[in-house]
Amino acid sequence: MKRPVRPLISILMLVALAATLSCRVAIRGGSGFAGSAESGIQAPPIQIFNSTLLKFAAVDIGEEKSKLEIEQLLEGNFASQGRHRTFATWRRFNHHDVKARSSNGLPVMLRSPKFYRYWLEFRRNLQLWARKRTFQPDIMMDLVRLVKVHIDSHNGLMSSDNKYKSCAVVGNSGILLNRDHGKLIDGHEAVIRLNNARTERFEKDVGSKTSISFVNSNILHLCARREGCFCHPYGGNVPMVMYICQPVHFMDYLACNSSHKAPLLITDPRFDMLCARIVKYYSVKRFVEEMGKPLSQWGSTHDGSMFHYSSGMQAVMLALGICDKVSIFGFGKSTSAKHHYHTNQKAELKLHDYEAEYAFYRDLVKNPWTIPFVSDKFRFPPVVIYQ
Ligand SMILES: *[C@@H]1O[C@H](CO)[C@@H](O)[C@H](O)[C@H]1NC(C)=O
Ligand SMILES: *[C@@H]1O[C@H](CO)[C@@H](O)[C@H](O)[C@H]1NC(C)=O
Repeated sequence: MKRPVRPLISILMLVALAATLSCRVAIRGGSGFAGSAESGIQAPPIQIFNSTLLKFAAVDIGEEKSKLEIEQLLEGNFASQGRHRTFATWRRFNHHDVKARSSNGLPVMLRSPKFYRYWLEFRRNLQLWARKRTFQPDIMMDLVRLVKVHIDSHNGLMSSDNKYKSCAVVGNSGILLNRDHGKLIDGHEAVIRLNNARTERFEKDVGSKTSISFVNSNILHLCARREGCFCHPYGGNVPMVMYICQPVHFMDYLACNSSHKAPLLITDPRFDMLCARIVKYYSVKRFVEEMGKPLSQWGSTHDGSMFHYSSGMQAVMLALGICDKVSIFGFGKSTSAKHHYHTNQKAELKLHDYEAEYAFYRDLVKNPWTIPFVSDKFRFPPVVIYQ
Protein backbone atom coordinates (compact mmCIF):
# COMPACT_ATOMS: atom_id res chain seq x y z
CA MET A 1 0.00 0.00 0.00
CA LYS A 2 2.98 2.32 -0.09
CA ARG A 3 2.09 4.10 -3.30
CA PRO A 4 -1.44 3.74 -4.42
CA VAL A 5 -1.73 4.38 -8.12
CA ARG A 6 -5.42 4.85 -8.52
CA PRO A 7 -6.48 8.42 -7.70
CA LEU A 8 -9.68 7.40 -5.92
CA ILE A 9 -7.76 5.21 -3.54
CA SER A 10 -5.28 8.02 -2.96
CA ILE A 11 -8.05 10.40 -2.10
CA LEU A 12 -9.69 7.93 0.26
CA MET A 13 -6.40 7.29 1.96
CA LEU A 14 -5.73 10.97 2.37
CA VAL A 15 -9.16 11.51 3.84
CA ALA A 16 -8.57 8.68 6.26
CA LEU A 17 -5.24 10.21 7.17
CA ALA A 18 -6.72 13.61 7.69
CA ALA A 19 -9.02 12.13 10.25
CA THR A 20 -6.18 10.92 12.38
CA LEU A 21 -3.53 12.53 14.46
CA SER A 22 -0.96 11.03 12.32
CA CYS A 23 1.69 11.44 9.79
CA ARG A 24 2.05 8.66 7.34
CA VAL A 25 5.66 8.48 6.44
CA ALA A 26 8.44 8.84 8.89
CA ILE A 27 10.95 11.28 7.58
CA ARG A 28 13.74 11.62 9.95
CA GLY A 29 17.42 11.84 9.58
CA GLY A 30 20.10 11.05 12.04
CA SER A 31 23.44 12.18 13.16
CA GLY A 32 24.28 8.77 14.41
CA PHE A 33 25.04 8.26 18.02
CA ALA A 34 26.68 11.55 18.73
CA GLY A 35 26.03 13.07 22.06
CA SER A 36 23.24 10.77 23.06
CA ALA A 37 24.51 9.02 26.13
CA GLU A 38 25.39 12.08 28.17
CA SER A 39 22.88 14.61 27.03
CA GLY A 40 19.81 13.26 28.77
CA ILE A 41 21.03 13.78 32.29
CA GLN A 42 18.85 16.28 34.09
CA ALA A 43 19.72 17.73 37.51
CA PRO A 44 18.99 15.59 40.58
CA PRO A 45 18.57 12.70 40.87
CA ILE A 46 21.21 11.53 38.46
CA GLN A 47 19.72 9.31 35.83
CA ILE A 48 21.68 6.51 34.30
CA PHE A 49 20.30 5.52 30.95
CA ASN A 50 20.78 2.14 29.39
CA SER A 51 23.21 2.97 26.61
CA THR A 52 22.05 0.08 24.43
CA LEU A 53 18.55 1.54 24.35
CA LEU A 54 19.83 5.07 23.79
CA LYS A 55 21.95 3.99 20.86
CA PHE A 56 19.14 2.02 19.34
CA ALA A 57 16.74 4.95 19.69
CA ALA A 58 19.23 7.29 18.07
CA VAL A 59 19.34 5.32 14.83
CA ASP A 60 16.81 6.27 12.21
CA ILE A 61 15.88 3.18 10.25
CA GLY A 62 14.20 5.27 7.55
CA GLU A 63 17.12 7.62 7.03
CA GLU A 64 18.53 6.12 3.86
CA LYS A 65 15.14 5.98 2.26
CA SER A 66 14.31 9.54 3.11
CA LYS A 67 17.70 10.83 1.94
CA LEU A 68 17.14 9.17 -1.38
CA GLU A 69 13.66 10.62 -1.62
CA ILE A 70 14.98 14.11 -0.94
CA GLU A 71 17.73 13.71 -3.54
CA GLN A 72 15.19 12.65 -6.14
CA LEU A 73 12.99 15.62 -5.35
CA LEU A 74 15.90 18.01 -5.59
CA GLU A 75 16.61 16.61 -9.02
CA GLY A 76 13.04 17.28 -9.98
CA ASN A 77 12.02 13.65 -10.01
CA PHE A 78 8.43 13.80 -8.85
CA ALA A 79 7.59 10.60 -10.64
CA SER A 80 8.87 8.62 -7.70
CA GLN A 81 6.36 10.42 -5.53
CA GLY A 82 3.42 8.30 -6.60
CA ARG A 83 0.27 10.10 -5.63
CA HIS A 84 1.99 13.47 -5.67
CA ARG A 85 1.93 13.38 -9.44
CA THR A 86 -1.20 15.35 -8.86
CA PHE A 87 0.82 18.52 -8.35
CA ALA A 88 1.03 18.70 -12.10
CA THR A 89 -2.73 18.72 -12.38
CA TRP A 90 -3.39 21.39 -9.79
CA ARG A 91 -5.64 24.12 -11.00
CA ARG A 92 -3.09 26.74 -10.07
CA PHE A 93 -0.55 25.15 -12.43
CA ASN A 94 -3.09 24.15 -14.98
CA HIS A 95 -1.43 25.49 -17.99
CA HIS A 96 -1.99 23.47 -21.15
CA ASP A 97 1.69 22.52 -21.21
CA VAL A 98 1.42 20.99 -17.82
CA LYS A 99 -1.14 18.45 -18.85
CA ALA A 100 1.21 16.89 -21.35
CA ARG A 101 3.47 15.19 -18.94
CA SER A 102 6.62 13.40 -19.88
CA SER A 103 7.49 10.18 -18.14
CA ASN A 104 9.26 11.79 -15.22
CA GLY A 105 6.94 14.76 -15.11
CA LEU A 106 9.23 17.69 -14.70
CA PRO A 107 10.68 18.76 -18.04
CA VAL A 108 7.24 19.36 -19.47
CA MET A 109 5.97 21.03 -16.35
CA LEU A 110 8.94 23.35 -16.43
CA ARG A 111 7.46 24.99 -19.47
CA SER A 112 4.91 26.49 -17.17
CA PRO A 113 6.75 29.53 -15.77
CA LYS A 114 4.58 29.56 -12.69
CA PHE A 115 5.39 26.00 -11.86
CA TYR A 116 9.04 26.60 -12.52
CA ARG A 117 9.08 29.45 -10.00
CA TYR A 118 7.45 27.27 -7.39
CA TRP A 119 9.86 24.52 -8.14
CA LEU A 120 12.94 26.70 -7.55
CA GLU A 121 11.49 27.89 -4.25
CA PHE A 122 10.65 24.32 -3.38
CA ARG A 123 14.23 23.23 -3.96
CA ARG A 124 15.62 26.07 -1.92
CA ASN A 125 13.37 25.32 1.04
CA LEU A 126 13.86 21.58 0.88
CA GLN A 127 17.63 21.97 0.69
CA LEU A 128 17.74 24.23 3.73
CA TRP A 129 15.49 21.90 5.64
CA ALA A 130 17.45 18.77 4.74
CA ARG A 131 20.71 20.43 5.76
CA LYS A 132 19.34 21.30 9.17
CA ARG A 133 18.20 17.81 10.03
CA THR A 134 20.66 17.02 12.73
CA PHE A 135 20.36 16.05 16.35
CA GLN A 136 20.49 19.09 18.60
CA PRO A 137 19.54 18.53 22.25
CA ASP A 138 19.49 22.29 22.94
CA ILE A 139 16.73 22.97 20.44
CA MET A 140 14.09 23.09 23.21
CA MET A 141 15.61 26.39 24.33
CA ASP A 142 15.13 27.89 20.88
CA LEU A 143 11.41 27.27 20.52
CA VAL A 144 10.38 30.70 21.81
CA ARG A 145 12.50 32.33 19.14
CA LEU A 146 11.55 29.88 16.40
CA VAL A 147 7.82 29.87 17.06
CA LYS A 148 6.41 32.15 19.74
CA VAL A 149 8.13 35.33 18.59
CA HIS A 150 6.47 35.03 15.15
CA ILE A 151 3.08 34.46 16.69
CA ASP A 152 3.50 37.39 19.07
CA SER A 153 4.44 39.65 16.22
CA HIS A 154 1.36 38.52 14.26
CA ASN A 155 -0.72 39.37 17.33
CA GLY A 156 0.85 42.83 17.50
CA LEU A 157 2.90 42.08 20.61
CA MET A 158 6.46 43.17 21.25
CA SER A 159 8.97 40.44 20.80
CA SER A 160 10.34 39.15 24.08
CA ASP A 161 11.75 36.00 25.61
CA ASN A 162 8.64 35.53 27.72
CA LYS A 163 6.83 32.24 27.54
CA TYR A 164 3.07 31.83 27.76
CA LYS A 165 2.04 31.75 31.41
CA SER A 166 -0.07 28.68 30.82
CA CYS A 167 -0.90 26.47 27.85
CA ALA A 168 -3.51 23.85 27.18
CA VAL A 169 -2.68 21.23 24.58
CA VAL A 170 -5.95 19.73 23.44
CA GLY A 171 -5.74 16.27 21.92
CA ASN A 172 -8.60 14.77 19.97
CA SER A 173 -9.42 11.73 22.06
CA GLY A 174 -13.03 10.83 22.75
CA ILE A 175 -12.22 10.91 26.47
CA LEU A 176 -12.85 14.68 26.22
CA LEU A 177 -16.58 14.16 25.78
CA ASN A 178 -18.89 14.87 28.72
CA ARG A 179 -16.14 16.19 30.94
CA ASP A 180 -17.11 19.85 30.71
CA HIS A 181 -13.49 20.97 30.40
CA GLY A 182 -14.31 23.71 27.88
CA LYS A 183 -14.05 26.68 30.24
CA LEU A 184 -10.96 25.30 31.92
CA ILE A 185 -9.25 24.87 28.55
CA ASP A 186 -10.16 28.36 27.36
CA GLY A 187 -8.84 29.80 30.64
CA HIS A 188 -5.24 29.10 29.58
CA GLU A 189 -3.25 31.90 28.03
CA ALA A 190 -2.59 29.79 24.95
CA VAL A 191 -4.62 26.89 23.59
CA ILE A 192 -2.98 24.52 21.10
CA ARG A 193 -5.27 22.32 19.01
CA LEU A 194 -4.41 19.44 16.73
CA ASN A 195 -4.94 18.56 13.09
CA ASN A 196 -7.91 20.83 12.54
CA ALA A 197 -10.28 18.97 14.83
CA ARG A 198 -13.36 21.12 14.93
CA THR A 199 -14.69 22.72 18.09
CA GLU A 200 -18.23 23.70 16.97
CA ARG A 201 -20.88 21.73 18.82
CA PHE A 202 -18.21 20.50 21.25
CA GLU A 203 -17.42 23.80 22.98
CA LYS A 204 -18.71 22.67 26.36
CA ASP A 205 -16.13 19.89 26.44
CA VAL A 206 -13.26 21.18 24.33
CA GLY A 207 -13.56 24.97 24.55
CA SER A 208 -13.52 27.37 21.64
CA LYS A 209 -10.32 29.37 21.92
CA THR A 210 -7.39 28.46 19.67
CA SER A 211 -4.03 30.20 19.81
CA ILE A 212 -2.02 27.74 17.73
CA SER A 213 -3.29 25.20 15.25
CA PHE A 214 -0.75 22.38 15.18
CA VAL A 215 -0.95 20.07 12.18
CA ASN A 216 1.03 17.57 10.20
CA SER A 217 1.69 18.37 6.57
CA ASN A 218 -0.86 15.82 5.32
CA ILE A 219 -3.51 18.19 6.61
CA LEU A 220 -2.13 21.12 4.65
CA HIS A 221 -1.75 18.89 1.60
CA LEU A 222 -5.53 18.45 1.65
CA CYS A 223 -6.19 22.13 2.30
CA ALA A 224 -3.95 23.07 -0.63
CA ARG A 225 -6.61 21.75 -2.96
CA ARG A 226 -9.12 24.29 -1.74
CA GLU A 227 -9.55 27.77 -3.10
CA GLY A 228 -6.90 29.97 -1.49
CA CYS A 229 -5.83 26.98 0.62
CA PHE A 230 -8.76 27.77 2.81
CA CYS A 231 -8.95 25.24 5.57
CA HIS A 232 -9.23 27.04 8.87
CA PRO A 233 -11.72 25.58 11.30
CA TYR A 234 -10.50 28.08 13.92
CA GLY A 235 -10.54 31.08 11.59
CA GLY A 236 -7.95 32.35 9.15
CA ASN A 237 -6.28 34.50 11.77
CA VAL A 238 -4.97 31.59 13.86
CA PRO A 239 -1.28 30.80 13.36
CA MET A 240 -0.44 27.29 12.22
CA VAL A 241 2.58 25.25 13.16
CA MET A 242 3.19 22.25 10.97
CA TYR A 243 5.65 19.44 10.81
CA ILE A 244 6.68 18.02 7.47
CA CYS A 245 5.80 14.34 7.10
CA GLN A 246 6.86 14.07 3.49
CA PRO A 247 9.38 16.43 1.93
CA VAL A 248 7.20 16.83 -1.17
CA HIS A 249 4.76 18.71 1.09
CA PHE A 250 7.01 21.76 0.78
CA MET A 251 5.04 22.28 -2.44
CA ASP A 252 1.86 22.65 -0.42
CA TYR A 253 3.65 24.90 2.01
CA LEU A 254 4.82 27.23 -0.75
CA ALA A 255 1.48 27.25 -2.47
CA CYS A 256 -0.31 28.09 0.79
CA ASN A 257 2.18 30.28 2.62
CA SER A 258 1.46 33.38 0.59
CA SER A 259 -2.32 33.11 0.95
CA HIS A 260 -2.23 32.62 4.72
CA LYS A 261 -3.11 35.69 6.75
CA ALA A 262 -1.59 34.17 9.87
CA PRO A 263 1.91 32.68 10.08
CA LEU A 264 2.32 29.19 8.72
CA LEU A 265 5.41 27.91 10.51
CA ILE A 266 7.28 24.72 9.82
CA THR A 267 8.78 22.94 12.80
CA ASP A 268 12.54 23.04 12.86
CA PRO A 269 13.90 19.70 11.62
CA ARG A 270 16.21 19.56 14.65
CA PHE A 271 13.12 19.70 16.83
CA ASP A 272 11.50 16.93 14.73
CA MET A 273 14.53 14.79 15.24
CA LEU A 274 14.54 15.27 18.99
CA CYS A 275 10.87 14.26 19.18
CA ALA A 276 11.53 11.21 17.02
CA ARG A 277 14.34 9.99 19.26
CA ILE A 278 12.39 10.45 22.46
CA VAL A 279 9.35 8.54 21.23
CA LYS A 280 11.45 5.77 19.78
CA TYR A 281 13.28 5.44 23.09
CA TYR A 282 10.01 5.05 24.99
CA SER A 283 8.72 2.58 22.45
CA VAL A 284 11.87 0.47 22.53
CA LYS A 285 12.08 0.60 26.32
CA ARG A 286 8.52 -0.61 26.67
CA PHE A 287 9.14 -3.31 24.06
CA VAL A 288 12.11 -4.84 25.86
CA GLU A 289 11.36 -4.06 29.49
CA GLU A 290 7.60 -4.46 29.70
CA MET A 291 6.86 -6.82 26.89
CA GLY A 292 10.08 -8.79 27.34
CA LYS A 293 10.82 -8.92 23.62
CA PRO A 294 14.25 -8.79 21.98
CA LEU A 295 15.45 -5.42 20.70
CA SER A 296 16.06 -6.92 17.27
CA GLN A 297 12.33 -7.46 16.77
CA TRP A 298 11.30 -3.87 17.44
CA GLY A 299 11.78 -2.71 13.84
CA SER A 300 9.55 -5.35 12.28
CA THR A 301 6.87 -4.94 14.94
CA HIS A 302 6.69 -1.19 14.50
CA ASP A 303 7.37 -1.04 10.78
CA GLY A 304 10.65 0.68 11.60
CA SER A 305 11.01 3.09 8.71
CA MET A 306 7.39 4.26 8.98
CA PHE A 307 7.42 4.66 12.76
CA HIS A 308 6.59 8.21 13.73
CA TYR A 309 5.66 10.29 16.71
CA SER A 310 2.09 11.58 16.74
CA SER A 311 1.16 15.22 16.18
CA GLY A 312 -0.01 15.32 19.76
CA MET A 313 3.40 14.37 21.08
CA GLN A 314 5.15 17.11 19.15
CA ALA A 315 2.52 19.68 20.17
CA VAL A 316 3.20 18.78 23.81
CA MET A 317 6.94 19.16 23.19
CA LEU A 318 6.31 22.56 21.64
CA ALA A 319 4.28 23.60 24.68
CA LEU A 320 7.11 22.50 26.99
CA GLY A 321 9.39 24.92 25.19
CA ILE A 322 7.10 27.95 24.98
CA CYS A 323 4.96 27.74 28.16
CA ASP A 324 5.59 28.14 31.89
CA LYS A 325 2.89 25.59 32.71
CA VAL A 326 1.35 22.92 30.51
CA SER A 327 -2.04 21.25 30.81
CA ILE A 328 -2.78 18.25 28.64
CA PHE A 329 -6.38 17.46 27.66
CA GLY A 330 -7.83 14.77 25.43
CA PHE A 331 -4.81 12.48 25.34
CA GLY A 332 -5.41 8.86 26.17
CA LYS A 333 -8.09 6.33 25.55
CA SER A 334 -10.65 4.33 27.36
CA THR A 335 -12.76 1.40 26.31
CA SER A 336 -15.88 3.49 26.77
CA ALA A 337 -14.62 6.46 24.77
CA LYS A 338 -14.49 7.10 21.03
CA HIS A 339 -11.08 7.26 19.36
CA HIS A 340 -11.68 10.90 18.36
CA TYR A 341 -14.23 13.22 19.89
CA HIS A 342 -15.12 14.65 16.49
CA THR A 343 -15.03 11.64 14.13
CA ASN A 344 -16.21 8.06 14.09
CA GLN A 345 -12.82 6.67 13.23
CA LYS A 346 -12.37 3.31 14.89
CA ALA A 347 -8.81 2.18 14.48
CA GLU A 348 -5.63 3.95 15.27
CA LEU A 349 -2.62 3.77 13.02
CA LYS A 350 0.10 1.26 13.73
CA LEU A 351 2.93 3.65 12.93
CA HIS A 352 2.37 5.37 16.26
CA ASP A 353 3.07 3.82 19.62
CA TYR A 354 0.56 5.67 21.75
CA GLU A 355 1.33 3.59 24.83
CA ALA A 356 4.95 4.69 24.59
CA GLU A 357 3.85 8.31 24.27
CA TYR A 358 1.61 7.99 27.34
CA ALA A 359 4.61 6.71 29.28
CA PHE A 360 6.49 9.81 28.14
CA TYR A 361 3.65 12.10 29.33
CA ARG A 362 3.60 10.34 32.70
CA ASP A 363 7.32 10.99 33.04
CA LEU A 364 6.74 14.64 32.18
CA VAL A 365 4.42 14.90 35.16
CA LYS A 366 6.39 12.83 37.66
CA ASN A 367 10.01 12.35 36.61
CA PRO A 368 11.04 14.65 33.80
CA TRP A 369 14.70 13.91 34.58
CA THR A 370 14.18 10.37 33.22
CA ILE A 371 13.47 11.75 29.73
CA PRO A 372 16.47 11.14 27.47
CA PHE A 373 18.02 13.27 24.72
CA VAL A 374 16.84 16.68 25.96
CA SER A 375 19.68 18.95 27.00
CA ASP A 376 20.21 19.08 30.76
CA LYS A 377 20.16 22.87 30.50
CA PHE A 378 16.48 22.73 29.68
CA ARG A 379 14.06 23.07 32.60
CA PHE A 380 10.83 21.19 32.08
CA PRO A 381 7.78 23.21 33.12
CA PRO A 382 5.15 21.64 35.40
CA VAL A 383 2.73 19.44 33.47
CA VAL A 384 -0.78 18.34 34.45
CA ILE A 385 -2.73 15.69 32.57
CA TYR A 386 -6.53 15.91 32.64
CA GLN A 387 -8.11 12.53 32.02
C1 LIG B 1 20.15 -2.49 28.51
O1 LIG B 1 19.13 -2.99 27.66
C2 LIG B 1 19.51 -4.16 26.93
C3 LIG B 1 18.40 -4.46 25.94
O2 LIG B 1 17.20 -4.65 26.61
C4 LIG B 1 19.76 -5.29 27.91
O3 LIG B 1 20.13 -6.45 27.21
C5 LIG B 1 20.86 -4.87 28.86
O4 LIG B 1 21.05 -5.85 29.84
C6 LIG B 1 20.52 -3.55 29.52
N1 LIG B 1 21.72 -3.10 30.25
C7 LIG B 1 21.66 -2.72 31.53
C8 LIG B 1 22.96 -2.27 32.14
O5 LIG B 1 20.64 -2.74 32.18
C1 LIG C 1 5.96 32.76 4.08
O1 LIG C 1 5.20 33.92 4.29
C2 LIG C 1 5.77 34.83 5.22
C3 LIG C 1 4.78 35.95 5.44
O2 LIG C 1 4.25 36.41 4.23
C4 LIG C 1 7.11 35.31 4.68
O3 LIG C 1 7.71 36.20 5.59
C5 LIG C 1 8.01 34.12 4.46
O4 LIG C 1 9.22 34.53 3.88
C6 LIG C 1 7.33 33.11 3.54
N1 LIG C 1 8.16 31.94 3.43
C7 LIG C 1 8.65 31.49 2.29
C8 LIG C 1 9.54 30.32 2.36
O5 LIG C 1 8.39 32.01 1.23
